[in-house]
Amino acid sequence: MDISIKLSIIALICLSRGLCQYEGYDYETDYDPEPNEPYHPPVQFTQNVDYSDPQIIYTNDCARECFCPPGLIMYCDNRKLKNIPKIPSRIQQLYLQFNDIEAVTMKSFINATSLKEINLSHNKIKSNKIEVGVFAKLRKLEQIFMHHNDLEEIPFDLPGSVERLSLAFNKIVRINDDDLQGLVKLTMLDLCNNHIDNVKSKTLNKLGRLMQLNMCNNKLHFMPASLPPSLMYLSIENNSISNIPDDYFTNLPNLLAVRMSHNNLEEIPTKMFNLPNLVELNLGHNKLQHVFFIPRSLQHLYIEDNELESLNMTIMCPKIDHSNTNRLTYLRVDQNKLKAPISTFAYLCFPNMQRIYYGEQKHAEGETPKVQEPMLTHPSVSEEEDEDEDDDDREGIAEYRHEEYGVEDNFNYYSY
Ligand SMILES: *[C@@H]1O[C@H](CO)[C@@H](O)[C@H](O)[C@H]1NC(C)=O
Ligand SMILES: *[C@@H]1O[C@H](CO)[C@@H](O)[C@H](O)[C@H]1NC(C)=O
Ligand SMILES: *[C@@H]1O[C@H](CO)[C@@H](O)[C@H](O)[C@H]1NC(C)=O
Ligand SMILES: *[C@@H]1O[C@H](CO)[C@@H](O)[C@H](O)[C@H]1NC(C)=O
Repeated sequence: MDISIKLSIIALICLSRGLCQYEGYDYETDYDPEPNEPYHPPVQFTQNVDYSDPQIIYTNDCARECFCPPGLIMYCDNRKLKNIPKIPSRIQQLYLQFNDIEAVTMKSFINATSLKEINLSHNKIKSNKIEVGVFAKLRKLEQIFMHHNDLEEIPFDLPGSVERLSLAFNKIVRINDDDLQGLVKLTMLDLCNNHIDNVKSKTLNKLGRLMQLNMCNNKLHFMPASLPPSLMYLSIENNSISNIPDDYFTNLPNLLAVRMSHNNLEEIPTKMFNLPNLVELNLGHNKLQHVFFIPRSLQHLYIEDNELESLNMTIMCPKIDHSNTNRLTYLRVDQNKLKAPISTFAYLCFPNMQRIYYGEQKHAEGETPKVQEPMLTHPSVSEEEDEDEDDDDREGIAEYRHEEYGVEDNFNYYSY
C-alpha cells in the first residue's frame, strides 16, 4: 500500500476513535480538520523512515504551542508566550511577534542553524536577557525584527550575514563602539524611537552596504557622524539637530531622500544639498530663515513651518539650463513668513512643477494674514503649445511618480 494512504488511514482511525495515545502532537490546536476529511500530516517524511514505529510517525518537531505548516516557516506569534520554544533545525523563518517574551536563550536556538528571518517584535525583551552569543551562531540570519521591545542596547554578537535590523521603539540610549561591528552586509538599520543622543564617528562608517538609516524620534543634537557613502535614505526627523557641518553630505553622493523635519535647523549653507541623486528633501518644521540651492534631481521639497520671509529664486535657481531642466514637481511652503506671492519666475526655473502648496503664512502681531489660494498649480500645464514639450512634460510626470513610489517603498520596509 502506498505510504501516504497508509498514513492517512492510521491517522483517520486514530482521530475518529479518539484513541490517539501518542504524545508530542496536539491535534486540537495545531491542526483542526473536519472529522470526515482525510488527515494530511504536516511533517514531511523522508524516505528511510521506519513507518512501523508509531513514535516516529507522530514525532513532530514543531513546538506544540506553535504552528509549522509543511516547509520552512514556524508561526508562534500572538500566543502570550513567555519563552521562546525550541526551534527545529529546518526552520528558516520564525515569527514570534506579539508575545510576552523577555529572554532570548541559547537552548531555544541550539539547532536553529537554518534561520534567515526572525520576528521578535512586540515583546518584552531586555538587553541583559539576551544570552551572550545566541545570535552569533545563526550564520544564515538575514533579518532581525526586534522593534517594540525593552532593549537598552543594540544586541552585540550579531552574525555578519545580517542585512536588515530593526530596533525601533526600544530604550536604546547609545551606540557603543563595538556595536554593529562586522555587519558588512547590513543594508537597513532602523533605530527610530529610541533615546539615542549621539552617534560618534567610526560607529557607522564600516557598514559598507548600508542603504537606509532611520533614526527618527531620538535625542540627537548633532548629525550622525561618518555615514558610509552607500547611504540612500536618511531619516532623522524629530531630533534636536540645530546645525549641519558644511561638508557633511559631500561623501554621500548616493542619497535619494533626506528627511529632517522637526529639528532646530536655522541655517543651511547655500550649496549643502548639491547632491546628484537627491529626489526628496524634507526640512519642514525647522527654523530656517533662508532658502538654499535646489539640485536638479530634486522632485519633492518640504520647507513648511520655518521662518522664511522670501523664496529667493536667485539662490534656489541661480541659472536656467533649458537642456537640463530642474525636476522639482512639488513644493510645500505653508506656515512660513512669506510676504509675497510665489514669483512667476519660479515656473521658469522649475518647469516641471505640478504643485506649490502655499497655504497660510504666519504673520506678525497686528498684521492681517494674507489670504492666498492654498494650492497653486503650474500655470502653463494646460496651455502648453509645443507638442514635443507637452510629451516631455508627461514623461516627466510619469517618471516622477515612479520614483516617488520607489522612495516611499524603500522607506517602509515593514510596518511597525
Ligand atoms: C537538536 O537536534 C538533536 C539532533 O537532531 C536532537 O537530539 C535534540 O533534541 C535537538 N535539540 C533541540 C533543543 O531541539
Ligand atoms: C515579521 O515582522 C516583519 C517586520 O515587521 C513583517 O514584515 C512581517 O510581516 C512579520 N511577519 C509576520 C508573519 O507577521
Ligand atoms: C517626537 O518624538 C517624541 C519622542 O522622542 C514623540 O513623543 C513626539 O510625538 C514626536 N513628535 C513628532 C512630531 O513626531
Ligand atoms: C537674493 O539673493 C541674492 C544673492 O544672495 C541677493 O543678492 C539678493 O539681494 C536676494 N534677493 C532678495 C530679494 O532678497
